[in-house]
Amino acid sequence: MKKLLVTGGAGFIGANFVHYWLANYPNDKVVVLDALTYAGNIANLKPVESNDNLAFVKGDICDQELVEKLLVEHSIDTLVHFAAESHVDRSITGPDAFIETNIIGTYSLLKAAKKVWLDGPEVLEHRFHHVSTDEVYGTLSADDPAFTEDTAYAPNSPYSASKAASDHLARAYHHTFGLNVTTSNCSNNYGPYHFPEKLIPLVITNILHNKELPIYGDGMQIRDWLYVEDHAYGIDLVLQKGQVGENYNIGGHNEWANINIVKEVCKLVENEFANNESLAGKFADAKAAIAGDTKSLITYVKDRPGHDRRYAIDATKTQNELGYKPRESFETGIAKTVKWYLENEEWWQAVMDGSYQDWVEKQYS
Ligand code: NAD
Ligand code: DAU
Repeated sequence: MKKLLVTGGAGFIGANFVHYWLANYPNDKVVVLDALTYAGNIANLKPVESNDNLAFVKGDICDQELVEKLLVEHSIDTLVHFAAESHVDRSITGPDAFIETNIIGTYSLLKAAKKVWLDGPEVLEHRFHHVSTDEVYGTLSADDPAFTEDTAYAPNSPYSASKAASDHLARAYHHTFGLNVTTSNCSNNYGPYHFPEKLIPLVITNILHNKELPIYGDGMQIRDWLYVEDHAYGIDLVLQKGQVGENYNIGGHNEWANINIVKEVCKLVENEFANNESLAGKFADAKAAIAGDTKSLITYVKDRPGHDRRYAIDATKTQNELGYKPRESFETGIAKTVKWYLENEEWWQAVMDGSYQDWVEKQYS
């Protein structure tokens, strides 16, 4: 039986990981530590809120004392670190929070872990799993081979630079102090609870509001999309079978140019409207979807500064050493995702209009 501390467990991937973990390991204890920033939402844990093995703590990963207390009080043996500022565009307009959370926050967690797990009278059994991204490897051109774990780091945005710095700190805490660190570098995730500032949920919710679908630059940038539950599954395998001190790539073998994925989402939403008459009443604003002409909403806009052209993950090591293979096909994963947004308007309306934040303020003030 494991006792996990999951940082950022109220965010998109962290919450999906918590759902996955409690479903697959019902006897394990899970403590979520999350600051509930604009991206963190306690409602993301709704499906598991009544689970007695789940505890939620609102707090900052930079608060080393709090982290030490949680590690001791809950006898945590496994820390899975998702908490981060995660949106590249925000890192361009306001990098400070990225340096604070992604670098200082990770450093603070590593210090707390070292103190509690290594520096006491006896070394305790432990694992520190650091969740990272393919963006630390930089950008690829069309013909380059996909990123492997040996690809040199070359981060290009303040976001990816802050993630790269945190990866190096995690590595150093293993190498120098013997902390049992593993790191995973994953490609673009999609699925339920994805905050609607990111491409796929933004496109779905903009169609439902009949708003433009902004395509940066020429729309030919390529991303490798993975269903979020397959990311959780990959981390599970790293925790079970991964070697400490190692990095593992997790990816979908599923490269799409942005414009094509946007068109694919348009098609799926239109099909839903065509097959279910009640949607036209529920989303009366969605004029283009009702008319079957969502592509008319596509609008090319100014490119993201420093925009990485292509990411692609070579997950051969993870496949060979851990037996990893995504379980969800893109076809089924994206169809489930579109349906989820159509059925969970209350969730995305509230995260977009900020009313969850008002609720969080009341709840925790
Ligand atoms: P997210 O922005 O949806 O969630 C981040 C969570 O961290 C939120 O719940 C937020 O409240 C919390 N948080 C932020 N600052 C905090 C702090 N100082 N203390 C405590 N909690 C804090 O992000 P996500 O998309 O779920 O990404 C999770 C992790 O996975 C990140 O480390 C990200 O770099 C990595 N990652 C994301 C993707 C992706 O496609 N989204 C792909 C690969 C790796
Ligand atoms: O690759 C993993 C990374 O994927 C994670 O580390 C990040 O946390 C996560 O946010 C994601 O980063 P991206 O920048 O790839 O995701 P985003 O959804 O912001 O954008 C996907 C692509 O779509 C990217 O090339 C930019 C483009 N885009 C995005 C938005 C929001 C548009 O063309 N228009 C948009 O409005």
